[in-house]
Amino acid sequence: MAPRWTNDLTWADVTPKAAFMNRRQMIAGATALGVTGGPARAGLNAVESRYSTDADPNSFADLTSYNNFYEFGTGKGDPAEYAGQLTTDPWAVKIDGMVERPGSYGLEDILKGVTLEERIYRLRCVEAWSAVVPWVGFELRRLLDRVGVQPSAKYVAFETLLRPEEMPGQKYPVLDWPYREGLRLDEAMHPLTILATGLYDEPMPNQNGAPIRLVVPWKYGFKSIKSIVRITLTDSQPPTAWNMANPREYGFYSNVNPEVDHPRWSQATERRIGGGLFSARIPTQMFNGYGDQVAALYSGMDLAKFF
Ligand code: MTE
Repeated sequence: MAPRWTNDLTWADVTPKAAFMNRRQMIAGATALGVTGGPARAGLNAVESRYSTDADPNSFADLTSYNNFYEFGTGKGDPAEYAGQLTTDPWAVKIDGMVERPGSYGLEDILKGVTLEERIYRLRCVEAWSAVVPWVGFELRRLLDRVGVQPSAKYVAFETLLRPEEMPGQKYPVLDWPYREGLRLDEAMHPLTILATGLYDEPMPNQNGAPIRLVVPWKYGFKSIKSIVRITLTDSQPPTAWNMANPREYGFYSNVNPEVDHPRWSQATERRIGGGLFSARIPTQMFNGYGDQVAALYSGMDLAKFF
């Protein structure tokens, strides 16, 4: 069988969003009524969310063939080509630091009793390309509440798997592996911050960060760390991969901000993937368009200084 992360078209690729949603509701309804038949799909039956954007999602093919996942190489096509070799089952996430119930949690355990939601979010990469992604996941705060955050915790640190045998990019010192990211605790507890386990109602493709990744839609994409194996609650700002590699270019906060340029390029506009290299650029929005929900987290902060 061909690996399911290849660029085979699914009906979601060629179906506009409204039809995609109606079809999904139809499938959910049919399942509830005990009606079976039709092509079998590994649908996650995620519920819709009021946090989704109305923007049209990019196709499954676009979202799974144009990726950043440096553990598999620095080319945009490298993750689709090489991530199939990553073993994602079994998978456990170590949760430690300032928590009441530290431990190694199996993915099945993490997902037990969790209602998966579809969150259609804009994704803005620091490289000035963007996408609209129908993620499937749940709010990170639900997991943090389950493990019990101690009052002394102020930050959350995340780590990607370190396995150079399966992640060939880790044989090169492009970054100080494993890939690491972090959030302030209030950012991590924000309802827009999700752990995603799927895309287009299917399990997360390896190149997009299987089996579980972070998605923080108001920050540059590099904050949305893939294939997470460790979550640590801490009282000090954790070191993060891109900030360690080049602190002048990549800040800890990295909120999308059209007014603060990257030292080597403008952040005022972006190119939506899937439209070809010569597609029109679109204006980048403050906090990637999520300002109404998140600006209050940064009141009084100089966003040019804390970039
Ligand atoms: N996570 C890990 N572990 N390694 C990476 O190289 N790249 C980041 C982020 N998460 C990256 C990562 C960057 S720069 C972006 S823009 C997004 O993943 C891209 O996510 P996507 O490939 O699903 O669009």
